[in-house]
Amino acid sequence: MSPMDAAPRPAPPRINPLQRIWLRELGMERLWLRTPPAVPVAKVAVAGDGAVPGQAPPGVSPGGPNVAPHSPIVAPSPAEARRDAPAAAPLAEAAPDATPAVVPAVARTAPAEPATGRASAIPPSILNRTGPPPRPAPKVEVQEEAPPPIPVAEAVKDANLEQLAAQVVACAACGLCKGRRHAVVGQGAQPTRWLVVGEAPGEQEDRQGQPFVGRSGQLLDAMLAAVGMSRERDVFITNVIKCRPPGNRNPKPEEIAACSPYLMRQIALLKPERILVLGRFAAQTLLGTDATIGNLRGRVHHLKTDEGVQIPVIVSYHPAYLLRSPSEKARAWQDLKLAAREL
Ligand code: URA
Repeated sequence: MSPMDAAPRPAPPRINPLQRIWLRELGMERLWLRTPPAVPVAKVAVAGDGAVPGQAPPGVSPGGPNVAPHSPIVAPSPAEARRDAPAAAPLAEAAPDATPAVVPAVARTAPAEPATGRASAIPPSILNRTGPPPRPAPKVEVQEEAPPPIPVAEAVKDANLEQLAAQVVACAACGLCKGRRHAVVGQGAQPTRWLVVGEAPGEQEDRQGQPFVGRSGQLLDAMLAAVGMSRERDVFITNVIKCRPPGNRNPKPEEIAACSPYLMRQIALLKPERILVLGRFAAQTLLGTDATIGNLRGRVHHLKTDEGVQIPVIVSYHPAYLLRSPSEKARAWQDLKLAAREL
């Protein structure tokens, strides 16, 4: 017999029948009969039992041969607490006063972490958050945007004359399309000996959709005829701006910039022998200068095409100006003779 055997065993704690039923329901009756490790007395106090910290609850013996004086029910390991949680419910119902130390412990561990593996994927930052749950992100309606318009210079790059005319008619690259009756693409002979370039359609041109059909046009026809040229046979007539500016105002730089790719493409397609440019806007646009008419006329300029061809360019007064200043017709006559010369 060992000294241990010889030692007197502590008496088992006395529990009443109701407590025994609870223990059985909890599956812990067996545990009760084992000697548990020492548990700090403060942890075993069961509210409502009249327990005093440091003392055994009333009705529970502080000693006994097989059973520790302190109840393991109220201090299970967290794992045990979770496992035993369902059994705690009847306990709470049966003896609400005997359970507060257990229920909060279970409540602290179980609800926050459901048994499914999915919950563990919730980041702690969200699990530990206090306050209302995060709102779902508002739905953003993605509106299909219209494709950006193709720049005129890009659109005309491979167009033939027919396609170019259709593009001009459909063009909305500047605001002038809003006030026009007709876009005026151009008109004349092909092959083209002379290309005559004016500024922009006036009222009559806007009505009829043809270039130089008003009073200015009649003067132009007369001037061309004086050097043996006709728009039916030799000359193609067009303008830098294809739509009439309201009230025949001067074209704005942005309108000229938007529209001039059409003229450049016409030149590339028509391949005229020479170009007669009428007025300041047309001359400055084609020659890329802000020099005055007086400065530009009286000599032959050249326009180099994308294909590297040099086209002679002659600058003269606009017929509308000549109508207002007939004395300048003599100079215009000089310009025509220059253009008609073998260059
Ligand atoms: N003035 C121009 O410059 N072009 C026309 O077509 C008519 C008048």
